[in-house]
Amino acid sequence: RYLKIFLLSCFLMACVLLFGRLLPFSHRLRGTSICLLSLFLSYLFYCALFPDGAIMQTSGDPTPSCHRADGAKRRLQKSLSCLLPSDARLSAVEASRLKADQRPHFAHHTAGNGTPSPPMSNLKFGNKKLPNAIIVGVKKGGTRAVLEFIRIHPDVRAAGTETHFFDRNYDRGLDWYRGLMPRTLESQITMEKTPSYFVTKETPHRISTMSQDTKLIVVVRDPVTRAISDYTQTLSKTPDLPSFQDLAFRNQSLGIVDMSWNAIRIGLYALHLENWLRYFPLAQIHFVSGERLITDPAGEMARVQDFLGLKRIVTDKHFYFNRTKGFPCLKKPESSGSPRCLGKSKGRTHVQIDRDAIEQLRDFYRPYNVKFYEMVGHDFKWE
Ligand code: A3P
Repeated sequence: RYLKIFLLSCFLMACVLLFGRLLPFSHRLRGTSICLLSLFLSYLFYCALFPDGAIMQTSGDPTPSCHRADGAKRRLQKSLSCLLPSDARLSAVEASRLKADQRPHFAHHTAGNGTPSPPMSNLKFGNKKLPNAIIVGVKKGGTRAVLEFIRIHPDVRAAGTETHFFDRNYDRGLDWYRGLMPRTLESQITMEKTPSYFVTKETPHRISTMSQDTKLIVVVRDPVTRAISDYTQTLSKTPDLPSFQDLAFRNQSLGIVDMSWNAIRIGLYALHLENWLRYFPLAQIHFVSGERLITDPAGEMARVQDFLGLKRIVTDKHFYFNRTKGFPCLKKPESSGSPRCLGKSKGRTHVQIDRDAIEQLRDFYRPYNVKFYEMVGHDFKWE
């Protein structure tokens, strides 16, 4: 990045000096003409030298319209601003990964959904493919962490944005969806994550219509903690929100929980899973423990890699525990100097909820949790 800026600056200065000597303009026109010509030539120089990338990593709010650009705008399309995740703030880990994702990877793993080997001229960017694997949920479970950790793997490339194709944008069609994906080589798998899929009724059927081979990942977390995390996030955007208890209970003294409140409804994992099992076998769904993802990220990621049929490349040597953040972060990549933690919206301090309300919610969720453990054959120990 700095080399690019340095080269461009040198070129710009060289142009100014050269035109300053050569151009026969009048004194008044001279300065403006020299600047304009120099800028124009520098732009051409930049396009010729770096046809595939932006100079700086930028952050901003991504919109799918970035992906619709073509012609001259394609250069912009490949810039980071079009690939940024929709999660609130882009962190160092996401930004640097997005940049890395613009480089080709040469790996040896073969996954499903493959397309013919790209010709040599195509090696730089590969082809856009529909995802082989989708992180379908759950919101506030740790979905961003799983995506950022798995995309370190050279055989994985992922859409940075939450596409919301199967819940909000289905009418736009599969070609639109494919257009949102990063280019991949035949040996790489394509992924995306949209946590709301897990609780959207139509989604399992729609994904199975796209491909019954799609692998599904669900990051689950104690539904009570998840609900508080969800509420904390909403509160940060809407400060005059009613209290957690007011929203969670229809009648707290009678212990009647409001199941229609989204923050509560999302945690009824067993109910949502039933819907998925109508379209996908259990073996095609992998459940990541949101709790273990924090205490043992390498262990959880080993299981994710096994599930995806990938070589175990993401290991404990990639992680360290960041005391300031209180969460595992990624160690420095070879190419960049900065350690990589998730953004500020991940790992917030939760709103304090009184113990009685928490106990009531634990009682409420217990039968659903037990059913969920039975369905997936694993006890997540949410007590
Ligand atoms: P909190 O902010 O409540 O702590 P999602 O990405 O699905 O929205 O999930 C956000 C949650 O990911 C965070 O919830 C945090 O607990 C969890 N998480 C797991 N691993 C993390 C990590 N390495 N860094 C930050 N947050 C992590």
